[in-house]
Amino acid sequence: MNPETEASAARLFFALWLPPEVARTLHTQSGGIVGRSGGKMIREESLHVTLAFLGEIAEQRLPALQAVAAGLTLPRVPIRLDRLGYWRHNHIVWAGCSEIAPELTALAGELQRALVQAGFLDTERAVTPHVTLLRKAAHPGELPALPAQAWTAEELVLARSWRTDRGSTYEPMTRWPLVPAAPVV
Ligand code: 2AM
Repeated sequence: MNPETEASAARLFFALWLPPEVARTLHTQSGGIVGRSGGKMIREESLHVTLAFLGEIAEQRLPALQAVAAGLTLPRVPIRLDRLGYWRHNHIVWAGCSEIAPELTALAGELQRALVQAGFLDTERAVTPHVTLLRKAAHPGELPALPAQAWTAEELVLARSWRTDRGSTYEPMTRWPLVPAAPVV
């Protein structure tokens, strides 16, 4: 579908985008798996960790949605992706965390609570932080080890999902800084 002519609703979500070097590493990993699993590789520049999925939001509600995010003071969070996996129920190959930082769970919770309060989400949903690498994949068999990819997320991103003939594309729309942790005194 041509984005210019699409009706006035957008498929939106909040996420953490990957630093370019992490995205490159994970994209290379998915390139090594797709030969066995088939499916569609997510583009390198689209790789992200979803915090809250909103679905279709009318474009006239966008300023109110952006005001919710702008009104929050959310902390930077550590992320450490160190394993690859496959979910049979949705045919996804993903990169995830052996141990999820409590700060990451808290960030998703705080954001979702604000979105529920403002009427953009019906209810909070537990998040299993992961980066989808391949969609519509068959079971890839044993997956390679993933050298740990660790960074501190410094921005909250509101993004749009486009469905195209070649699969989904994810495009950051607005970014808000996450605040550094206060120094321990
Ligand atoms: P996924 O990576 O697990 O597929 C944009 O579509 C993002 O929102 C994707 O990262 C996707 O997560 C997530 N998403 C899409 N549909 C969703 C749904 N119905 N519930 C929760 N998350 C969804």
